[in-house]
Amino acid sequence: NSISLKQAYHADFLIGTALNAAQIEEKDSRAEQLISQQFNAITSENILKAVIVHPQWDRYNFTLGDKYVDYGERHHMFIVGHTLIWHRQLPGFVHRIRTKDSLNLFMKTHINAVAGRYKGRINGWDVLNEALNEDGTYRNSVFYRILGFDYIPYAFKLAELAAPGAELYYNDYNIEQPAKRAGAITLIKKIQETGARIDGVGIQGHWHVGKVPFKDIEESILQFAALGIKVMVTELDIEVLPRNSSEADVNQRMRSTPDTNPYTKRLPDSVQQQLASDYENLFKLFLKHRDKLSRVTFWGVNDGQSWLNNWPIMGRTNYPLIFDRQYKPKPAYDKIMSLK
Ligand code: XIL
Repeated sequence: NSISLKQAYHADFLIGTALNAAQIEEKDSRAEQLISQQFNAITSENILKAVIVHPQWDRYNFTLGDKYVDYGERHHMFIVGHTLIWHRQLPGFVHRIRTKDSLNLFMKTHINAVAGRYKGRINGWDVLNEALNEDGTYRNSVFYRILGFDYIPYAFKLAELAAPGAELYYNDYNIEQPAKRAGAITLIKKIQETGARIDGVGIQGHWHVGKVPFKDIEESILQFAALGIKVMVTELDIEVLPRNSSEADVNQRMRSTPDTNPYTKRLPDSVQQQLASDYENLFKLFLKHRDKLSRVTFWGVNDGQSWLNNWPIMGRTNYPLIFDRQYKPKPAYDKIMSLK
């Protein structure tokens, strides 16, 4: 109990967490203590997304971004910027762009301003997030619709120029699944062929209890590493609630927000144990491939702060992380520590 997660895994890979304004400004002293004890890497959960830092064509807001980077430096952490180009959490003016010239101008000014502001301070950027469909084809985002594939190497070129020295990543969910993985491999190879630099790929790692795709994850680590880039798990959480509703159903329920899950009051021991064993097996796998994995980042600090309490249905109670709502380590934490 005397050593922490980041210390236990020090020689293997970085151990990260996602931070929001709430965690950075948290007055509860347990928060900063736990974060600085357990983690040596941070990712901005929302703080550096375009809708927050670049709300209008000619307006930027770096108040929180500056605090985020200060926080990481104060604690000597590896600081990840998330994310430069993504089809979600984009300000309205970008959705209204219709021409190639305007969209190229947005990409250039946005990446120069945001990546450039923190050059030499942010150590790695999720340059591009979620550009693929489940079948491995390109997502029909505003970027792809107007610019075609070229927007992808362009983003990496711009980031390289704006933030020399920062590692540049492609980040996506479900890219351990075979079809999407094949799409990601093609995407990465095509970036490399244009001469643009890409340093790593992030497997987000939003998985479900009892259904973690260990074999696909292992295959993906091997195949991505064979491209000559770093591999990381960037948004790890293991959801304990069923998510089998249709999209229409979810949209409907998002409006009315009752917490319909069976675990609102307490997570049953059997599920708690399954969660712990899933985390244990995941970290066993990560350790097996420690030479290929550079970082494992959890998507949040404790269960109470996880985005999964509100997604895809508002106001659910979820338990996807390894610290509970009182900042106490859960059985999953003990299992991960017992591997060392
Ligand atoms: C999520 C945040 O956790 C939420 O707080 C926010 O409301 C929506 O975005 N994939 C990503 C992340 O790359 O940026 C998303 O983060 C989760 C899914």
